[in-house]
Amino acid sequence: MSESPILTVRHGRVGVISLNRPAQLNALNDALMDALGKALLDLDGDSDIGAIVITGSDKAFAAGADIAVMADWTYMDVFQSGFITRNWETIRQVRKPVIAAVAGYAMGGGCELALACDIVIAAESAQFALPEIKLAMLPGAGGTQRLPRAIGKAKAMDMCLSARMLNAEEADRYGLVSRVVPDAELQTTTMKLAIQISGYSLPALMAIKESVNRAHEASLTEGILFERRALHARFASADAHEGMHAFLDKRKPVFQHR
Ligand code: HXC
Repeated sequence: MSESPILTVRHGRVGVISLNRPAQLNALNDALMDALGKALLDLDGDSDIGAIVITGSDKAFAAGADIAVMADWTYMDVFQSGFITRNWETIRQVRKPVIAAVAGYAMGGGCELALACDIVIAAESAQFALPEIKLAMLPGAGGTQRLPRAIGKAKAMDMCLSARMLNAEEADRYGLVSRVVPDAELQTTTMKLAIQISGYSLPALMAIKESVNRAHEASLTEGILFERRALHARFASADAHEGMHAFLDKRKPVFQHR
């Protein structure tokens, strides 16, 4: 039996998914993306989980879509099977915070997967590129849309049209990643952050994620209205009352995730 393309472990309220095709630098094929989507939905539906981490190996987060598989596909193959839409976009259904922990290569679809996560922690060794142009392809897993939103049109055009690779420091400066840490600290920093986040009130986290994502999809007026409704809804939450009273009582809040 071949090894599973992903590995999932739980640490308290954190679910960690490791991409696991080391010989192919975690190139993303259907088996991997199907398994990743299923693991994400399982963790999202598990009331004992408050945050999800996606990580790769020391050498590669993921080197992109599996070129060996794609090389002979026809238009009809990808159109009829719904390539990308079918199993790469599952992550968009996830309502809990998703953190990417990236070391080594995050290229093509690997970079796009990181861009689809909510927080990206990069090791100093991380390298980000959308090199599809070298294959006469296109960053078609959200790259042409999420990258300009993340780093602006000028830098996104540079990366997409020239295949320019960013190191971790550049990616940090451009706003592609949230933080950069030494390689040896990537997993501990990410876990510490994930544990911290997963300890907060889950419905509040979900409402914040939904509201921040609105910033990309709505006008400012619509986005502010959405945010205001989400804020008002917090007053229907036991956790919000507990959080504020705990502050006033100078004690730690005990959240019920309700
Ligand atoms: C399939 C891949 C792969 C990929 C690496 N491998 N990337 N296989 N698809 N995307 C395989 C190699 O063929 C090789 O297999 C093994 O992994 C190790 O890779 P090397 O090239 O030997 O390693 P190295 O010299 O360290 O170079 C690392 C690298 C390079 C710079 C990341 O592998 C590379 O350029 N990979 C392709 C990156 C890329 O173009 N990504 C975008 C793909 S398109 P063997 O059997 O020889 O050991 C894409 C589109 C998504 O992502 C959007 C939808 C279309």
